[in-house]
Amino acid sequence: MEKLVISGIKALGGKIQVKGAKNAALKIFPLAILTKEPILVSNLPEIEDCARAKDMLIALGHRVKKIRHGIVEIQFKNRSCVNLPSDIVNKFRASIMFVGPLLSSCQEVYFPHPGGCVIGAGTRPIDMFLDSFVKMGAKVKILENSYRLTAKKLKGAKIFFPRVTVTGTESLMMTACFAEGVTILKNCAMEPEISALAEFLNSIGGQIEGAGTPLIKIKGVRELKGGEYKIIPDRIEAGTFAMLAAASNTGEILIENCEPLHLEALWAAFDKMKINYRLYKNAIKIMPSKKILACDITTHEYPGFATDLQSAYTVLMTQAHGSSLIHETIYDRRLLFSDSLTQMGANIIMADPHRLVVSGPTRLYGHKLVTPDLRAGMALVMAAIIAKGETQIDNIYQIERGYENLAKRLRSLGADIKKVKK
Ligand code: EPU
Repeated sequence: MEKLVISGIKALGGKIQVKGAKNAALKIFPLAILTKEPILVSNLPEIEDCARAKDMLIALGHRVKKIRHGIVEIQFKNRSCVNLPSDIVNKFRASIMFVGPLLSSCQEVYFPHPGGCVIGAGTRPIDMFLDSFVKMGAKVKILENSYRLTAKKLKGAKIFFPRVTVTGTESLMMTACFAEGVTILKNCAMEPEISALAEFLNSIGGQIEGAGTPLIKIKGVRELKGGEYKIIPDRIEAGTFAMLAAASNTGEILIENCEPLHLEALWAAFDKMKINYRLYKNAIKIMPSKKILACDITTHEYPGFATDLQSAYTVLMTQAHGSSLIHETIYDRRLLFSDSLTQMGANIIMADPHRLVVSGPTRLYGHKLVTPDLRAGMALVMAAIIAKGETQIDNIYQIERGYENLAKRLRSLGADIKKVKK
């Protein structure tokens, strides 16, 4: 077991490179179920969630060969089973993404309820996935601790998502590729990762129109080929590094290999906060600001303010002048981590489970902490870097689910952060 030990208030500066997007990378593994031809994936982040997705694909009968850092080749070997192994499913929520492709190519699939971050209602429901598969002609049997889905042949259907769902949209987009006829998805999520996935599916023979808008039309095809897929840059990592640079406010930081246009809601908030920043085609420069002003945010589906940036934003607001209201609308438990910030000296009032009021600026102090989930963990790292004294963060598997080699990369900016054995 390891933990992070961070000694705060060191001047930061220099360059940092953004890795490929976790939430784009995770979907290429289930997509591979749909083709027998090889897929060459590049800019793949080497993170725990991708390792779990890779384990799952191998368990289902594929080969995943590492070519070099960030590049793998995926190739079908033989379909050994249609059971999603519970030890892998329990570790990550995105395992639900394997269900649709397996159902459409093998006619059946068994799986336990997916695990992952403890941020949503109950065990994070999968009702919209199941309801959609049923609309496409699948039979769903809910067993004691698992599900069994069968379908001789999925049929195109008209599906309206009652709530905007990212993995739901992506899952149905993939599943519908082999359904008979046309599938229409309404009230779809519009995240850049969805457009990237559709673009790749189309490049290997899919017929998808409208990805990146609320209405997606998928025409069923007989087969998909192989191809090359470059993972888009991680907008959450880029936005988080930008907020870290702003919160530290000690030097100039250039964030490279990113797509600033995927973060427009964050830049709108930066303008209100009077943060000194500059955007380039594939880079972001954050320069020291005179005075950061508090600014309210409400999380929203893309292109609104991403819930995955909310925890880092909360840390930034502890350094802003004035009071900010942070309204988390997507997940029920994503504000609970703010208790750790309060222990570090932040002035935060939880108005209700969906709203925080942060007053600043406040000096933060090092503390012994345990991270509850991935994004909260990254926010605690950020808080520790700007805090006086030493912070220890436990349960870092959660952070490593989504951030590659974090300690080393942050050290290159001047942060005093190391991973030590407990
Ligand atoms: N929901 C349901 N029923 C469903 C599916 C979702 O009620 O069948 C609810 C969820 O509980 C949540 C809301 O709908 O309250 C939205 O969830 P969504 O389905 O959009 O989330 P997701 O697809 O499971 C993806 C990302 C999340 C990110 C959200 C929102 C992946 C693998 N995960 O999750 O990423 O927060 O979209 O943008 O793409 C993260 O990276 O830390 C992370 C949690």
